[in-house]
Order: sequence, then structure tokens, then C-alpha cells
Amino acid sequence: MKISFKNRDIISITDFSREEILYLCEQAKKMHGLEKNKERDGLSNELKNKAMAYMFYEPSTRTKTSFITAMRQLGGSSDGFSGIESTSVMKKETIRDTIMMMEANHFDVIVMRHPLGGSLQWAADVASVPVINGGDGENEHPTQSLLDIFTLYLLNHENLDGISIGFGGDLSHGRTIRSLSLALSNFKDITIRWAAEDFLGMPEDLVELLNSRRVNVIREKRVEDVLSKVQFYYMTRPQLERMGDITSKDVMKMMEKYRIDLNKVKESEVKLMHPLPVNSEIAEIDYEVYFDESQAFFPQAENGIFLRKALLYEMLKETESIQFSGKLNPLLERGNNRLKRTIKENAKEGRRFIDNIAEGTVVDHLLPGTEQKIVAELELTNRGCSSIPAHLPKAGKSFLKTDLPVLSERELKKISLITSEATINHIKDGKVADKFVYLLCKNKNCVTRVINEDVSPKFYNDNGTIRCRYCRKPYSITSEKISSKEREEFLDSLPKEIEQIKFRS
Ligand code: CP
Repeated sequence: MKISFKNRDIISITDFSREEILYLCEQAKKMHGLEKNKERDGLSNELKNKAMAYMFYEPSTRTKTSFITAMRQLGGSSDGFSGIESTSVMKKETIRDTIMMMEANHFDVIVMRHPLGGSLQWAADVASVPVINGGDGENEHPTQSLLDIFTLYLLNHENLDGISIGFGGDLSHGRTIRSLSLALSNFKDITIRWAAEDFLGMPEDLVELLNSRRVNVIREKRVEDVLSKVQFYYMTRPQLERMGDITSKDVMKMMEKYRIDLNKVKESEVKLMHPLPVNSEIAEIDYEVYFDESQAFFPQAENGIFLRKALLYEMLKETESIQFSGKLNPLLERGNNRLKRTIKENAKEGRRFIDNIAEGTVVDHLLPGTEQKIVAELELTNRGCSSIPAHLPKAGKSFLKTDLPVLSERELKKISLITSEATINHIKDGKVADKFVYLLCKNKNCVTRVINEDVSPKFYNDNGTIRCRYCRKPYSITSEKISSKEREEFLDSLPKEIEQIKFRS
């Protein structure tokens, strides 16, 4: 199969095959060769009329500057923002509209970093031009994984099979370890060894996934045990910003035995990698180690330029600029998250719930005590709508009737944020005309849960597991009211993979 990255979105490392990763490593090596031969500008005409927008909603030193450097060395230009303070995001502009503005300004590619999981898939769905994920919350940072893999490729004599690597630092809260280990799982005979306190350790679901992909994952007691058995050691920064109430002091205590100092590395032959930045307060790598020959993290950062240069070149070479249509992709308007429920025509229960409304909506199977919250959130009283909240303790049932005939997407989302998997019954002529459950991703950090962004939730069927199209987290249906037949029909209605829905008019 011909490998092509032309106009492709770069969202998740799991979208890359072994062959594609190797191909990118070969192309990045050519860029590396240009630099080593003092031909830095050897391809400076290739993307002469191309422009890259960068949209960094979160801080970045390496990712942003290396993309800009890569673009410059290919003859292209870059512009954008780092931090939202100077942008109209401060005036509540959405990701969607900001992406449209980048397109209206004739950028050919967009690199974005955003704290919400799934925000990059959303940006890619909105954009007609290709989008590169520069980090979406704790989800993914695929070009970091690619540059890490490229560094291993160079250090390991252009071979990625048979690698043994140690992981240290925070293996639980960051995106790097997950993405790098999944990227490595494309290769043969990979062994990962790690040592850390439980709180910072490898997540069990990740270990299970890696084992299912034939990666050998071994927990060691001491970091010294890891260092003596591996070729490479990948240290990571504790992600304090994602640890809630845990303080820097708490983490320093947890890290005490696991910091890398000269004594630990001098006994081994490892090459020491780190995605950077190092937290200078915690100092997960001691300053003395910076002068040791094990230090490979600064060359690793430079490799980011070669890898990103190769990627931009492969995505944009010989492409026509995409003209701005001024329109949104019509496929964005509707989600595929409405789980159809069977309408029981003559059921007593059904009649009881709708007996006093001819036109309206009954929201059923609410969490007890949430009825009034929904009335308030939908502002039913202020809008002059009738509302009959009810809780029947004996039947263990809470529901809400209103004469509002149809609920909007925002209203459905607001209800789902208060009580998940409620059944929505739209009533017409005294009968249930439509009955469904509005499924909303349960990952609290997912972009689909942000009301004002108006993302219509979409799921896909990943070998029987329902996954959110945006953050890709698994969704499990918990409502006992939904029958196995209804669940199966919903699963069957979903696409089998993340479909390409790019809109180019
Ligand atoms: N490694 C990395 O993503 O660094 P920045 O946060 O500085 O971009």
C-alpha cells in the first residue's frame, strides 16, 4: 500500500501503522542528514507559498517553536497565538469559530494545543485544511511520540524492533507514556520496565492493552534495577497540573527514590531521554546528569524539528491550497448518539406518564432529586413552559413532564450533564412519537461536554466497544432500563472506525 500523508489530519499515534512510522523515520533522517551536512535550507523552496497557523491554548516551548522552525526551513510561513489572552477566545469565541477564522485567513495547515480531550478531533472535523494535534489535555501528543520514536530509531541503528526501555517519573497523569508505549507496540520484542510509587505508576488498563499487543511490561522495585536492564531510560515530568490537591512537596516525597542522579546512571549504559520540560523544583533529573554522556534529551528535542519538518513536507508538498468555502461541514450538525428506545404502544406505564399532556416531552429515568435542577437549568419557569417534576419513591422513578415539544441539542446536553442516560419521550397527539436516550461521553474533560462548543456527540464501534469519536475513551451504558436488544441495535448503528468526515467544497 502506498504511504501518503497528503492533507491528512494528525490526531492520534494509534492512527499510524508500523510502515507509516518507519517511513516517517526515514524521511526525518533525511532532514537530519541535511542539518548534519550543513544544508539546513536545502528544501527551502518546497513549501514556499504555504502557511501554518499555530493555536496554542496551553503553554509550549518546544512543540510550537519546532513547528515554526520546521515550516521556516521548508520556505513556508507561520502565524498564530500562544496563550488566549490576546485573542477573541477571551470574548467567548469557540474553537469551531476560531478554526474557521484560521481558514478564512488562508492558512494551509493548523497546529493546535488545547486542554480539552478530543478538541483536536473536533478542530479537524471543522477544518477543511489538515490539523495537527500539538496536545489535547491528557489525551494525546502524537508528534511527541513520533519524535521519541525517531530518536530511538537513530540511537538504535535505525531499528525499532527488540528495544528495551525504562519508564520513570509520572507514568499515570501524562500523555507521553501512553502514546509512546502504544507507538512502540507496533514493533517486535519490546520490553518496558518501570519503577514508581503506585500513584505515579503505569495505569493497569495501559499495561493490559500493551500485553494484548505482545509488549512485555515489567515492574521493578528500584529505579537502579530498571537502569541496569534497559538500553534507554525515558524520564517524565510529574504532571502536577493534572493531580488536583496533590502538592509539589507530596510529589517530591513520592519521587525521592526515583529521581535520576549521576550515581544511578554512571553504573549503567543507558541513554537518557525526556520529552522536556524538566520541573526544576522537583528536578526529576539531577543537573549533574546533564553533563553525562547518557544525556540524550537535548538531541531528542532537536529531533522534533527533523520529524516535524518531514511531517509538514509529506502533508503539504505538491498540494493545491484549499479555498475557503465559508461554510460549516453539514455532517457536524447531527451526532449519532441517540440510542433509540422501543415505544410500547399499549403499555399501562406509558399511558400513566403521558396522560395529561398532548404535546410535550417526558424526561424519564432521572437520578432522584435531579428534576428541579433540570427545571432550573432549562429555565422552564422563566420561559413560561409548564413543568411537572415527580419522584415516585415506591416505583423508584423520577421524571419530568413539560409542554416543551422538542428539546434542542443544548437542552439535551444540559440534561445529560445533570443525569446521564435519561429517556427522552417526545409526545405528539397524546402519544409517544419519539423515544431515545441521548448518550454523552462520560470523560469529564471531553470537548463534547462543553455546552457552548456545540459538538454533536459521535461514537464508533471499536470491535464491540463504544468509543467517543472525540476523546476516544470507551463508553459503557449503565442504565438498566436499556435492554440488550436496544444496546445491540445502537452498537450496530455506529461506524466501525473513526470515519473521515473532512469537508472540502
Ligand atoms: N515536550 C513538549 O511538548 O514540550 P512543550 O510543552 O514545551 O511544547
